[in-house]
Amino acid sequence: MSYTYQVQTAADYEAAYAHATENPEAFWAEIAATFRWKKPWKTVLNWEFRSPSVRWFDGGTLNMTENALDRHVEAHPDRVALLWEPNDPGEATVSWTYKDLLERVEAYCHVLVARGIQKGDRVCIYMGMIPELAVAVLACARIGAVHSVIFGGFSAESIADRVLDAQASAIITCDGAFRGAKTIPLKSVVDQALSSCPEVHTVVVHQRTREQVDMMEGRDVWYHEALPVDLKPFPAVEMEAEDLLFILYTSGSTGKPKGVVHTCGGYMVWATYTFVNVFQYQPGQIHFCTADIGWITGHSYIVYGPLCAGATTLLFEGIPTYPDCGRFWQITEKHHVDILYTAPTAIRSLMAAGPEFPDAYPMSSLKVLGTVGEPINAEAWHWYDQHVGKGRIPIVDTWWQTETGGIMISNLAGVTEAKPTYATRPLPGIQPLLVDEHGAEIHGNGVSGNLCMRYPWPGMIRTTYGDHDRCRQAYFSTYPGLYFTGDGCIRDEEGLYRITGRVDDVLNVSGHRIGTAEVENAINMHPQVVESAIVGYPHDIKGQGIYAYVILHSPEKEDLRVEILAEVVKHIGAIAKPDKIQFVPGLPKTRSGKIMRRILRKIAEGELQQLGDTTTLLDPAVVQAIISGRASE
Ligand code: PRX
Repeated sequence: MSYTYQVQTAADYEAAYAHATENPEAFWAEIAATFRWKKPWKTVLNWEFRSPSVRWFDGGTLNMTENALDRHVEAHPDRVALLWEPNDPGEATVSWTYKDLLERVEAYCHVLVARGIQKGDRVCIYMGMIPELAVAVLACARIGAVHSVIFGGFSAESIADRVLDAQASAIITCDGAFRGAKTIPLKSVVDQALSSCPEVHTVVVHQRTREQVDMMEGRDVWYHEALPVDLKPFPAVEMEAEDLLFILYTSGSTGKPKGVVHTCGGYMVWATYTFVNVFQYQPGQIHFCTADIGWITGHSYIVYGPLCAGATTLLFEGIPTYPDCGRFWQITEKHHVDILYTAPTAIRSLMAAGPEFPDAYPMSSLKVLGTVGEPINAEAWHWYDQHVGKGRIPIVDTWWQTETGGIMISNLAGVTEAKPTYATRPLPGIQPLLVDEHGAEIHGNGVSGNLCMRYPWPGMIRTTYGDHDRCRQAYFSTYPGLYFTGDGCIRDEEGLYRITGRVDDVLNVSGHRIGTAEVENAINMHPQVVESAIVGYPHDIKGQGIYAYVILHSPEKEDLRVEILAEVVKHIGAIAKPDKIQFVPGLPKTRSGKIMRRILRKIAEGELQQLGDTTTLLDPAVVQAIISGRASE
């Protein structure tokens, strides 16, 4: 397979960018035509950003899995599609060819349809990183069911919220998961969640940790018992381009997480196009993305992008620090990985462990390194470059979001220039602009502002599940006529983009998006808590840490900290646990009752000289009280 749309030189990039901007429909039609469609589309794009309504390849029908599997089985059946590296390096790896993977997906389809799951049904997936997770995702796509993968670290309550919001009728899970030295129960968490989800009629359970689990008669079924004895094909269900492919919940600045909806045709084209171009993938290469499939990075760059491109995708069950801090490098060496894609937070934590770990592995197979999920600091960038890339290969700093479906701003490996800490240039088809707080466009270079998009791209969010107006409000209402990313951004003198972080009430902790309102709501559930306010502060490893200011009904005592943390774990999950909790007598509020987070952020950051104007506060004295009680390291 060759990729007619792979840009190979800086001049190619310029030409593709110009073409995609001047004639986007012709540009994307040409690329989409390289995929397998059951029926051709009638219109390439219909859109307006008010409602919003964005439709790509309308009238066209396809099934994503024919593109991710069948066409590769025809072209190169024996190429390895999926490599799996277990948590424990002593356990055997799994290596499945495209033919193997298709057979497993088809068998899985039979399991799902035998349980009455059909096109359009929603299926939640709450699993560890075992190969069957990828199979389950693809099987949903093949039968036309809408998957909603829930990261294995979320609590029972978070699962229930998602299952109810998605009106899911089935869940796929495991008995438990191995993560480093820990065994995480999954099935028992699902059981707790389902006590409030009566509509779920099926729970498919994979055996992994072999711990004891309860199985509910009629509802729960072991995967290995449900699997058909004979291999039978399963024809891919015909999907409209704009039919839902998946829902993925993500945190915003208000309320509960939103179900970001991606659809079949546009997402497929975008995930594949960006994979092939950003990483400069060459046929036969091995791609190791260290994300979890529970996040968008895993959807687009472990499953869909690499498989649609015909790559070998490597799925790793464990964590970067187990059994030691050389695990990523050892996997890279062992499997001759060509492309390694990870997060700045992982790089920073491995950097802290010392260069001797990566220095022990030559990793001469590596061609490209990538980062994603948060701004990368210069020190981490250079360490990654020198100790992992040995100073000889490109690093791509890829900026994008759950809502964008795929990479939006990034250098293209070895094709366009890299600049440490800069995502650099928009991909062809992406039209970014910076605006000020009033929505006025900021022109020229050497400027900064809020990052927006003025034109649709195939992989963009279509709606938030079950509540289209929420999608409008969250992304299209701040600056009418534009998609607002929620990020602040610098455009330097050369026109290169550097994303500086969220400008809304969303935190980015170890590359995970966490809504401050969600954490506050969880803390406020504790009976002794009157009110709380969450802000982020710079954290050496996590990028941002979570700082909680809490007002109590009762006098403070140490136990309350533990109880408050437990409350957050119960309502959200361990990833949202505050790093610091400060009990305060009050919060700085304006006369209209709005919390002045700017002041709280400055105090959390320790910038006590720069609190700005506090005279508009209802009770300015509260600021002094908070400063004197600041939480220590
Ligand atoms: O703030 C940006 C940051 O992560 C946010 C998106 O988070 P999420 O939807 O969870 O997706 C993460 C994986 C794509 C963005 O709004 N972000 C992501 N990549 C970068 C980044 N910030 C700076 N540089 C990046 N490369």
